[in-house]
Amino acid sequence: MMFKKFCKNISLLGLLVLFLSACHHEKPNVIYMPDMVYSPALKAQQEGVRLPVPGTISRDFIPYPYKNNPEGAGRELKNPLMPTRQVLVRGQHIFGIYCIACHGASGEGDGTIVPKFPRPPTLHSEKVRNWSDGRIFHTISVGQNLMPSYASQISAGDRWAAIYYVRVLQRAKHPTSEDLKIADEE
Ligand code: HEC
Repeated sequence: MMFKKFCKNISLLGLLVLFLSACHHEKPNVIYMPDMVYSPALKAQQEGVRLPVPGTISRDFIPYPYKNNPEGAGRELKNPLMPTRQVLVRGQHIFGIYCIACHGASGEGDGTIVPKFPRPPTLHSEKVRNWSDGRIFHTISVGQNLMPSYASQISAGDRWAAIYYVRVLQRAKHPTSEDLKIADEE
């Protein structure tokens, strides 16, 4: 009987010791080699390292301040290029590489990847025709739902050129009265 009680107490004591040692495992009472435990050497990226000035960005990162602000992008970003022949040819080239697979050659949303990839909306909608270049730039730069961002693949200049080419496609389907007059004269 005594023995049984003794055992019970011992095991309880054992549990208690385990418990307490669990609390203390980060700070042992005895440190054999304090020089090694408390090394004066700094770990990488800890205090003491000269940190870059707050707000520093990497050399190849161009900040895009409209990430969650498509309307602001649409209002404030202007196409820095002129729609010269060279820019339009470049835009056609970029569209042919990056956009055509989904949006199709004429922008109707009938690219070769469809229907394996969900059909994108036409680029000839009143909505997109009325979008400013900046608003389209936003979609290409940030992505939109299923459409991924192309910011890392297409330089900003090439994005603007591709937008001029989208305008070419739109105008071919929805010619202005000016365009029709010229067509009549020819
Ligand atoms: C992987 C397929 C894919 C590629 C490549 C792609 N898009 Fe898209 N795009 C989509 C889809 C899908 C949507 C519709 C997203 C949504 O549901 O809002 C879309 C939406 C758009 C819209 C907005 C249309 C609207 O009515 O809201 C524009 C403008 C656009 N894309 C232009 C481009 C241009 C320019 C390129 C090439 C630089 C391009 N896209 C490349 C799939 C793609």
